[in-house]
Amino acid sequence: MYGASYDSVYFFSIEVLRKNFLTYPCNELIIITQKLTHSTGDIIRLMTTGSLSGKSLFKTPVTLLIVDDESAIREMLKLLFEREGYHCLTAENGHQALKILESIKVDAVVTDINMPGMNGIELLRQGKKRCNSDFIVITGYVDDFTYDRMIEEGASDFIYKPVANKEMLIRLKRVLRERSLLMERERITEDLAESNLQLKKYTEELNQALGELKSAHEELRAAYLDTINRLVIAAEFKDEDTGDHILRISLFSALIAEKIGLSSDLVANLRYAAPMHDIGKIGIPDKILLKPACLTRDEFEIIKTHTTIGASILAGSKSDVLRIAHDISLTHHEKWNGQGYPHGLKGEKIPITGRIVGLLDVFDALTSPRPYKQPYPIEITLDIIKKDRERHFDPMIVDAFESCIGEISSIKKDFRSFFTAQTNDMHWSERDIQAGMDKIILGVD
Ligand SMILES: [Fe+2]
Repeated sequence: MYGASYDSVYFFSIEVLRKNFLTYPCNELIIITQKLTHSTGDIIRLMTTGSLSGKSLFKTPVTLLIVDDESAIREMLKLLFEREGYHCLTAENGHQALKILESIKVDAVVTDINMPGMNGIELLRQGKKRCNSDFIVITGYVDDFTYDRMIEEGASDFIYKPVANKEMLIRLKRVLRERSLLMERERITEDLAESNLQLKKYTEELNQALGELKSAHEELRAAYLDTINRLVIAAEFKDEDTGDHILRISLFSALIAEKIGLSSDLVANLRYAAPMHDIGKIGIPDKILLKPACLTRDEFEIIKTHTTIGASILAGSKSDVLRIAHDISLTHHEKWNGQGYPHGLKGEKIPITGRIVGLLDVFDALTSPRPYKQPYPIEITLDIIKKDRERHFDPMIVDAFESCIGEISSIKKDFRSFFTAQTNDMHWSERDIQAGMDKIILGVD
């Protein structure tokens, strides 16, 4: 059959095969035999060894083991069961039966109790330890063995002699049906366990792939942000010796943004966008940008254009970071009271990111050396900023800034380029003196 080699080949009608053995239709199966003495069980066993692409062609036949010391009863039961298509084995006593059970897979054992040597009860006990066959116990000794006791011993059914053929078959089929359902449940459970294992494996593989994708994405993002940062540093070198100013603005801005409760995404984007606030200075002539003296009105007008130049450089990007950077570049010199530049935006018309960076840019500029001034002490700078609450600065951000002044001071002191200044040793800039800031802060008339 399909390339397999057999000593004997048998012929059946296709209808018999379909009804009893085939798991799927097969219209061209031709089996011829010269040996007509084989039992149906032998034929079934031969046929179940046939295979097509490793899959069995036939249903696995049910194998029964009949155990009885009386040969007439054994043969009678064998004939009865084989007529129903079952494959039958026989044994005269418990010992013989156990040997068969140890070598052949048996679905159900039909055994008498009273037998010489090992009786049916002992066979039941020993058999249940060695295989998962079902046991149907038959006895005529009603007084010694009860149904309850047999079931407790592990029997699947218990039948009193004499038993009619019809009842015997009905009870055998009930036991086999329960066995089939149980095995199906076990198979489903095993399939489920295997599916769960497979699912777990797929989940692990998916997580690993996602992890690798995330890692690749992070690397790409880091490279992209690093590129932006280096360009910004290149621009910043025009008027600041170390580039530390933009790093401080980044750290300060993220701190204040977290303090006022902005989303973690916006905080992260602001951290990368804030350093670009003065990128427009790249378009301002050095002689104006680096002028140590006060600027003329015209020069200041030119300085103011660094906001719109920066916005032009950053406009039109799909990147969240660059869109935020655009807003910051354009609005970080606007004032809460509408007196800022370039557009005189007022209050909450100024993007929150622009308001945050605007305040911190002023703080860092006041506490850092510039061509036109010495660094101011942090305490004096805080006073200057508080004086401008609700004029230059958003009051909410001033309050958040004041509550974070300790952390901001310690960030600032971590930079090598930071020059500390004492209140009693400070030098006001000419610009602040002209504006009367020294008198306002120090309370001098
Ligand atoms: Fe600026």
